[in-house]
Amino acid sequence: MEVPRPHARGDWVVVRLERASLNRLDAMMLEQRTSEAPGAIFGSDGAGVVHELGPDVPTSTGWAVGDHVIVSPSLHWGPDERFPSPEYEILGSPTHGTHAEYVAVPTANLHAKPQHLTWDEAASLPMAGLTAWRALVTRGRLAKGETVLVGAASSGVGTAAIQIAVAAGARVVAVTASGAKAAEALQLGAAATVDRTAGDLADQLRAATGGRADLALDPTGRLWGQFVENLRPAGRLVVVGKMAAAAATLDVQSVYWKQVDVLGSSMGSPRDFAALLAQVTARRWAPRVDSVFPLDDIAAAYTRLDAADRVGKVVLDVRA
Ligand SMILES: NC(=O)c1ccc[n+]([C@@H]2O[C@H](COP(=O)([O-])OP(=O)(O)OC[C@H]3O[C@@H](n4cnc5c(N)ncnc54)[C@H](OP(=O)(O)O)[C@@H]3O)[C@@H](O)[C@H]2O)c1
Repeated sequence: MEVPRPHARGDWVVVRLERASLNRLDAMMLEQRTSEAPGAIFGSDGAGVVHELGPDVPTSTGWAVGDHVIVSPSLHWGPDERFPSPEYEILGSPTHGTHAEYVAVPTANLHAKPQHLTWDEAASLPMAGLTAWRALVTRGRLAKGETVLVGAASSGVGTAAIQIAVAAGARVVAVTASGAKAAEALQLGAAATVDRTAGDLADQLRAATGGRADLALDPTGRLWGQFVENLRPAGRLVVVGKMAAAAATLDVQSVYWKQVDVLGSSMGSPRDFAALLAQVTARRWAPRVDSVFPLDDIAAAYTRLDAADRVGKVVLDVRA
């Protein structure tokens, strides 16, 4: 639909988007949307060109019209690195998001686009990369040489997690659903893969790790039990989602006897986003793009999000 172009108020900035991308969150919110309560323009991920600076944007920020930027989706994180402020929002609800030609965001959410990334890749990074970064690095205390289990390896979060962990010098065992997706995980740098649809998952994980993984990331909600079973003593499980199961059953003794840390993580702070961009730039990795659709064909993009063979991010070309 046609809506008025946003204007830059206060210290906010309007970005003319080149690309946006879809996340599971958009699909989850779409299910709740009704014509009576259509809500905000969705979209947490975007990259584009600075179009208008608000009157209160300090000149010390250095931002100028025409700059190429990537937008962090964490709005108003606040001063505490440990958790977001009560004002925290994810871009796209209730603040209008990136599935549009223009988006207005606080200046603090602008970052220079890493030059080696295409527009498609830049718009694929923010939410998945930020979530995977905070989960693995900030919360999970990922260290070089560790063995990391990554669930939903073909998802946006999973593909980013593989790349972050590999760039940090870890050995990744990726859990995914098919041979073709496993091949993609290996391409991204995973050392081994496990097919969650074939045979006993815990047994397969044990064969791949000897039951001694250091860190595990479950974006699905369904892997807690098998992951904890395959952590070494004092291993860490980080959980970020409930896409496949909203409740988890755990062998309680396996948590306390092995001194396991079960850690929750969501999105990330400005510091997390800056650290992610620093790694992406230093190690020159690029998010895995599955497919690109024109904004006008957004329905087809949502259909692709649910395709069984999708690996990585579904992108919207806003200028097509
Ligand atoms: N807390 C946060 O801040 C935050 C932020 C972003 C995302 N998330 C969560 O992280 C998860 C991934 O998000 P995303 O946007 O990256 O999603 P996505 O790209 O849509 O992920 C889809 C993938 O999830 C896996 N999957 C789907 N159904 C499954 C099932 N029943 N059992 C096991 N795996 C299943 C599949 O991967 P495989 O076939 O490879 O297993 C599928 O390709 C979601 O749960 C999302 O809510 C949380």
